[in-house]
Formats: sequence, C-alpha cells, structure tokens
Amino acid sequence: MYVKVFIIILCKSASRIETNFAEAIKTEHGEEVKKSDIRWVLTVPAIWSDPAKLFMREAAEKAGIEKDQLFLALEPEAASIYCKEQAIRKEDQDGGAILRRFDPGEQYMVLDLGGGTVDITVNEVCSDGKLKETYAASGGPWGGTTVNEAFRKSIEDTVGKDHFSECILKDQNGWIDFEKEFETEKRKFYPCDNVTHKLHLPNYFVQTPSLQLAEKFKAKHGNALKVKENYLVIHSSKMEQYFDTAIDKIKDHISNLLQRKELSKLSSIMLVGGFAESRVVQEKIKTYFKTKTVFVPPEASVSVLKGSVMFGHNPNIIAERISPWTYGVHTRKAFNKNIHDIKRKQTMAGKEYVNNAFDKYLGIGESVAVGRRSLGHIYNVINPKDHIVYWKVYRTEKMDPLYCDENGVYFLGSLEIELPRNEEEKKWRLELHMTCRGTELEASVSDADTQEQFKRLKFDFLRSEYGLYSNIVSE
Ligand SMILES: Nc1ncnc2c1ncn2[C@@H]1O[C@H](COP(=O)(O)OP(=O)(O)OP(=O)(O)O)[C@@H](O)[C@H]1O
Ligand SMILES: [Mg+2]
Repeated sequence: MYVKVFIIILCKSASRIETNFAEAIKTEHGEEVKKSDIRWVLTVPAIWSDPAKLFMREAAEKAGIEKDQLFLALEPEAASIYCKEQAIRKEDQDGGAILRRFDPGEQYMVLDLGGGTVDITVNEVCSDGKLKETYAASGGPWGGTTVNEAFRKSIEDTVGKDHFSECILKDQNGWIDFEKEFETEKRKFYPCDNVTHKLHLPNYFVQTPSLQLAEKFKAKHGNALKVKENYLVIHSSKMEQYFDTAIDKIKDHISNLLQRKELSKLSSIMLVGGFAESRVVQEKIKTYFKTKTVFVPPEASVSVLKGSVMFGHNPNIIAERISPWTYGVHTRKAFNKNIHDIKRKQTMAGKEYVNNAFDKYLGIGESVAVGRRSLGHIYNVINPKDHIVYWKVYRTEKMDPLYCDENGVYFLGSLEIELPRNEEEKKWRLELHMTCRGTELEASVSDADTQEQFKRLKFDFLRSEYGLYSNIVSE
C-alpha cells in the first residue's frame, strides 16, 4: 500500500525526521515508507515577504528536502482549510440553532492569533468546495506575547530601569520562574472570575529591601498590583489591562477590514492559534462583533498544524489568491510620447527607447487563479551572443508604475535562464509567463517561435549580480 506521510517541519535535519517517521509507520502499520513517499509542508506566516519565503525554501532544501516534495503553506490559510471543515453554530430557517459547515458563497475570516503575530485571511467557499482568497492576507505584531510585554513594562516602570536590568542580570533563574508563573496565570485569566493572581517574586527583589518595593507598587498601582510578603499580587482589573493593547489592536484591524466592500458578505470570524485559547480574547471579540458568528474551533491552537496536513493532501484546495503586490519585470520599451517622460527618451540604432521600464504582470489586489499562467510578454535578446538571459523582478503597491526606478518600486530578485549556444546568431524572441503556484510565484520562459520551454537556472529573491541594465528589450 502506498503510504503518504505529511510532516510539518521546523528542522535541522530532514533525514533524521524521515528515518524516525519511517520507523514509527513501520512499527504501527507494518508499512515501508520510501523517501519519495513523503511530502513535506513548511508553514510560514502569510504576511511574510517573497524573499523571506524563498529563504525558508532554500533552508529546507539545504536540510535535505527534495524541491518537488516540499510545499509552502501560509499559516492562516492552513487554519482556514481546517476551519472550513468545522461545523459551526448557525440559525436554521425557523430561528433554531444547528451545526453546519460553510456553504458555497459563504465568506469567513480566520484570525491566527499566535505568540508574536496575528495573521488574518478572508476566504470564500467556491461552488466546487475549494477556497478563494477574498482579501490579501494582513496582520501585525499583536500576538500573545504583547500581554507578557505589557506586564514586564509595568514592573520595569515601577522598580526603575536600573533595578530591573540588575534583577534580570543577577537573578536570571528567578526572573525566568517569575515570567513562567505569569504565563500560567495569563492562560487561566478570565475577568469575570474577579480573582487575584499571586506570583513568587524573584530573589533579587525579595533580598534587596532598600528597593522599597511594596511602597513603590502601592504608590503607582494601589491595590491593582501590590507586593505582599514574597509575592506580587495582580488584581484581575490589572491583568485585564495587560490584555488591552493586543485586543484593541486586533479589534481595530478587524473593524477596518469589515468596512471593505469585498467583505460585505462575511458571516463568521474564526479564532485559531494559541492566543485564541484565551477566554478574555474570545469574549471581547464576540462582544465587539456581535453581528458576526465568532467561533473558536476545537483544538484552536493546533489548527495550523491540522490544516497544513489537509493542505498537503490537497494543495489545490486554495483555488484563487489575491495578489499582495503589483509584480513586473525590468525591460527596455519603445518610447511612447503619450505616456513616457520625454527626459527618459534614448535613441539607439535609430530607435527611440525608455530604459528601466516596468513591465507589469500582476496587479495589486487582483484575483489570481492558482496554477493559471499570466498572459505572456515577448522580449528580444539585445545581444545574440548572450546565452545567459536574465530578468529583474520588481514589486510595488502602485497599480500601474511606468518605471522600475520610481519611488515605491522595489527590486525583488532576478530570474536567469540559459539559452542553447547560438552558433548562427539567431535573434531570440523569448516569452515570459508568471504563474501563482500555491503560495509562491513561478516564472517560465519559452522560445516565442517554437514554444520550447527553457530550463530555469535561478529565480533568486535574495541577491542579484545584475546592475541597472537588462539584456532584453520588450517587443
Ligand atoms: N489559554 C491561553 N490564554 C492566553 N494565552 C494563551 C493561552 N494558550 C496559549 N496562549 C498564548 O498563545 C501564544 C502562542 O500561540 P501559538 O502557539 O499559536 O504561537 P506561534 O504559532 O508559536 O507564534 P506565531 O504564530 O506568532 O509565530 C503564546 O503567547 C501563549 O501565551
Ligand atoms: Mg502561529
């Protein structure tokens, strides 16, 4: 029997994981697993840039994972795939409550509330059950650690910067235990419980009476945060304040998103990720967005993991994506006095050109069918003796930039191909296509006359050896 194993990774040694997995499958199911049976799914935050994603791909390949067996999944999208299969509470025609999955045409938002970041995607269920992205992924640094940072800051502000640094330096273990205790209390916290939370103070604080800790806390926080014997006692009102920054930022961001006309059909908000386990986060989001069904699926903290496995089984489940940027390549174009700046006009061999022209492929906010090639653009190779041809890829938030060197247009990386040695000095006409492949952008080049596809040498988002010029010109 053919066994497929999907593994979510963050690893140094792929082969060690493969070996352990193969052994585990053999013991449990008696099946042999070949290396080629394994499909790896590497999850990345959706708001990461293309170079950051490529960096992860390269790192995974260096760890020994075969290129064709590796898929990159966007974390909130993986969570969304998992959420789509969840039955959520809805009203039936008579106003009663029923449990149903999302129907085709329904839109829902997934908030992946992690430690560092909050990653947000909006999906709509297509008639064939696949998902389309309705609005480009967004988010920000408002995850669960924001609460810990607010706590830390209030201690620092009360004891003073110097004593605070000294405590961390001189009593590292004490401080780590203190933070761990806070983490436990943070996870238990629910404002309605109206309880206090007691943490053992680090020894440095206890053994330095000259700090006058009790007095300092009383003066600054009254009963909300006080020192009692060897403990710091946090009242639930104070604990709630520590959550406020993160929750307010999340609420504001969702409110802004809900103003957009693309999201007018949105019915539900799903909360996943570790921070979504927090009862105070759940309650506040539910209270604020009363007109939407706010739902926390079971095992919210592992929905990215479970959704990634589902994505590994069916990478085509996301059928349409929204382009987060306008993408184009650097080329030389025929000068057009109606659109181009006259100061940029150059004359070469009797023809008028503009250099540094931006040749657009995808527009920001454009809906792109996954796996469907863009229209091809044709380029001539300037020097027939060149057998390495390269394109420089740029991205921008502008819809229709004219030049690659205008403000707000950024270099992304270069694509390089190798042409067969050109003995007869053939005039090459090359056709370039861009394709949205899963979570990554793919470029392909063919001979425009024969349609022969060239092997891609490199699509390098991380560095470029090329300067300002191109060795191609738009036809
Ligand atoms: N019951 C809970 N109450 C409050 N916070 C919680 C609870 N359970 C987990 N968290 C918080 O969730 C966060 C971790 O979530 P998660 O495991 O999804 O993060 P991550 O995926 O590692 O981070 P990121 O997505 O930012 O890379 C931590 O800040 C943790 O304190
Ligand atoms: Mg996460």
